[in-house]
Amino acid sequence: MGDKPVVFATRKLPEAVEARLVRDYEAILNPDDRLYTADELVEISAGADAILPCHSEKLTAEVIGRLSDRVKAIANFSVGYDHVDTEAAKRRGIIVTNTPDVLSDATAEIAILCMLGAARRATEGVALVREAGWKDWSPKFMVGTQVTGKRFGVIGMGRVGQVTAKRARGFDMAVHYTKRSRLDAGTEAALGASYHATIEELLPHCDVLSLHCPATPETTGLLNAERIALLPKGAIVVNTARGAVIDDEALIAALKSGHVAAAGLDVFNGEPTDIHPEYRKLDNVFGLPHIGSATLETRDGMGFRALDNLDAIFAGKEPVDRVA
Ligand code: DGY
Repeated sequence: MGDKPVVFATRKLPEAVEARLVRDYEAILNPDDRLYTADELVEISAGADAILPCHSEKLTAEVIGRLSDRVKAIANFSVGYDHVDTEAAKRRGIIVTNTPDVLSDATAEIAILCMLGAARRATEGVALVREAGWKDWSPKFMVGTQVTGKRFGVIGMGRVGQVTAKRARGFDMAVHYTKRSRLDAGTEAALGASYHATIEELLPHCDVLSLHCPATPETTGLLNAERIALLPKGAIVVNTARGAVIDDEALIAALKSGHVAAAGLDVFNGEPTDIHPEYRKLDNVFGLPHIGSATLETRDGMGFRALDNLDAIFAGKEPVDRVA
């Protein structure tokens, strides 16, 4: 080992990212892309100055408490960092960073796919074609919800929310949103967006509701039965943020009653293996396996951004994307 800091990449990273990582650091790679247990994460990171994890690694307070004193940074390969207990990291003096911006376009694309997939009954349509169940056509066949000209509601008008709203404008949708701090007048005007001070005030204006807020203790179960009841009947719910922001029982009840016509979900509580079983059964759920950021360009961008953060940290500078 030379003088370079040692970085432990918990998952197999894109080629170009690994090439830069091994060029600039002593890298501990995971060529088989195995999902490590908590014990393995602790054990392997004992030889590392920094960890470069994904959201698949749960860095809980317990795990962080067991990390070696050598670990100085957790440079996430993700914008969301709910998988890291940032308070525990702060207590250990470990810097935590994320990768904003670079995945906004890719995630907005998936949000629009989720909206359209849900609105136009893609789950049923794909099954009819693939399973040879398609026998007929009639004016009432597979009639879904048209989104053009409807109202597109956003909870969490941050980077991804804003790009998604911009794409929704391409369908002539009127944008409505709520956000802790209101957008400046110029951004609001550019998005043609109407501000609502609270979630409760926003919901009646959402023919489509798209969730873009991070998972925090405050947003856990944010879309609950009381709030779903405030949506117009037949609304579409889209989630590309985190499963935790939805109360699954409440959404499933609304999908069954028809109060919510359909949901397009890229993220789930209990993902990947332990999602609510009803989501697998309901025809009006268009589900994807957490692929919001899954494009070559974006995955490279996420890796480079994580490395930019590490470069700053090991140069004794403040990383741009420090979250703890
Ligand atoms: C993110 O970056 O947060 C995506 O959800 C992938 O982890």
